[in-house]
Amino acid sequence: MPRFEDSDFGVEASPASVDPRAAAAADARSPRDRGSLAGSLPIPTDSGNTVEVPASRSSISDAAAFMHNLSLSPSTRDRRGSRNSFGTSLPIPRSPRVSRLSSAVTSDAATVSRDLLASQVQDMSQEKVAAAKNMAFAFDIDGVLAHGNEAIPEAKEALRMLNGDNELGIKIPYILLTNGGGKTEAARCEQLTEVLDHPISTDQFIQSHTPMQALSEYYETVLVCGGEGQKIREVAENYGFKHVIHPKDILAWDPTISPWRSFSEEDRAEAKPRDFSKINFDAILVFADSRDYQTDFQLIIDLLLAEDGKLGTRSKDPVASRIPVYFSQGDLVFPTDHKGPPRLTQGAYRISIEAQYKALTGVDLERVVYGKPERATYDYADEVLRSWMEQIHNEKHLPENIYMVGDNPASDICGGNMHGWNTCLVRTGVFQGGDNDEQNPANFGVFPNVLEAVKAAVRKELGKEFKMKWNPKVNPVLHGNSTSAVE
Ligand code: G3P
Ligand code: MG
Repeated sequence: MPRFEDSDFGVEASPASVDPRAAAAADARSPRDRGSLAGSLPIPTDSGNTVEVPASRSSISDAAAFMHNLSLSPSTRDRRGSRNSFGTSLPIPRSPRVSRLSSAVTSDAATVSRDLLASQVQDMSQEKVAAAKNMAFAFDIDGVLAHGNEAIPEAKEALRMLNGDNELGIKIPYILLTNGGGKTEAARCEQLTEVLDHPISTDQFIQSHTPMQALSEYYETVLVCGGEGQKIREVAENYGFKHVIHPKDILAWDPTISPWRSFSEEDRAEAKPRDFSKINFDAILVFADSRDYQTDFQLIIDLLLAEDGKLGTRSKDPVASRIPVYFSQGDLVFPTDHKGPPRLTQGAYRISIEAQYKALTGVDLERVVYGKPERATYDYADEVLRSWMEQIHNEKHLPENIYMVGDNPASDICGGNMHGWNTCLVRTGVFQGGDNDEQNPANFGVFPNVLEAVKAAVRKELGKEFKMKWNPKVNPVLHGNSTSAVE
């Protein structure tokens, strides 16, 4: 006998005329099978040790508002006298700080001689060369070029071809546009150079927080969260923020601020404690995935609720005196070297903070999210591409035919489509769907991997017969205009 009537739960009573043979057959199944048949967990029988009490609160969480939305139309209620139009625009640097963040592009003798030959070929195949300089690629990293520290094998071949192993012996420009982060651009490029077996320069590289260096013109004292160890301290200092505070600095000042965290001597040695009861934070920056969710949750919420960003205080009006919070990207999941489904990332963390803030204040959190698919990130990518063109071809112009190759429809493809780029969706990462993504379909197509996407784009721009290999045995000067490179 049920403990409650169906009407207690606001549902229709089950029809009385259930076929007794079907019911008997269903009962013969294991409780797990019965549960999955019904779409819910099996209910223990009356003789068990549990009693079911109706819930007082709805079991349905209202998560729609927290999804991966674009940062349009934020509330403007009581907007504080912010030094930028917080929530309505995202500052980015006017031009990439090439000299400040640059790492050298290595160039060996073979490449140099190939470039010399290429310049002679250029005279002969001017049209093709012009087309090669009028196209470019923006590659996502996780799920397109690599899974964690393992290169996707086809990625190496694609980069080899773009770096000059093609019939023209010419570099076809590409940049890397990732929502990853957590360490300096130089450190990440060094790591990528090793993983991908090709030199990656910081001048062709944008990670989620790279454009956020512009914020150093607006804020001096910032809490910076995320990433391994304290690598983001160096990132923020490189960006020009004057007073960079890491969560460990605060823990060293008052370890009780994060109730479940045990603060080791090693942590203390790395920390730079100050008297935070006297410091006003200007902004909160989340640069990468938190490695200590609880502490970061607590500190971010503390500062959002504080009076003008001072720890230990609580504002009477959390909206009016709230300091701004910026997240470097909004992806919910990303592909890793884990063999199962994609793993949760910064977007999931941000949603938790939004929910906590709403639950504590009743107010929706106003925040800014950088990274793909945000327009600011793509505008900045254009600038990086322009400068990169100058470095590799001595021509500072933006190629007309840009191909974004990504695995995440909600960030890579959505942003690329909005920015007027050609978009290629690959099947080596987040996207596991059918013909194309329904919400954010790739306009150039869906490909099994990055190499296939690159080949299709190159053939579209440079001709179906274009050879994806340089043939060093054939000197184009001596052999006339027959650029007889091998396939
Ligand atoms: O945390 C998500 C990030 O790692 C995704 O990177 O290269 O796929 O944009 P990417
Ligand atoms: Mg990706």
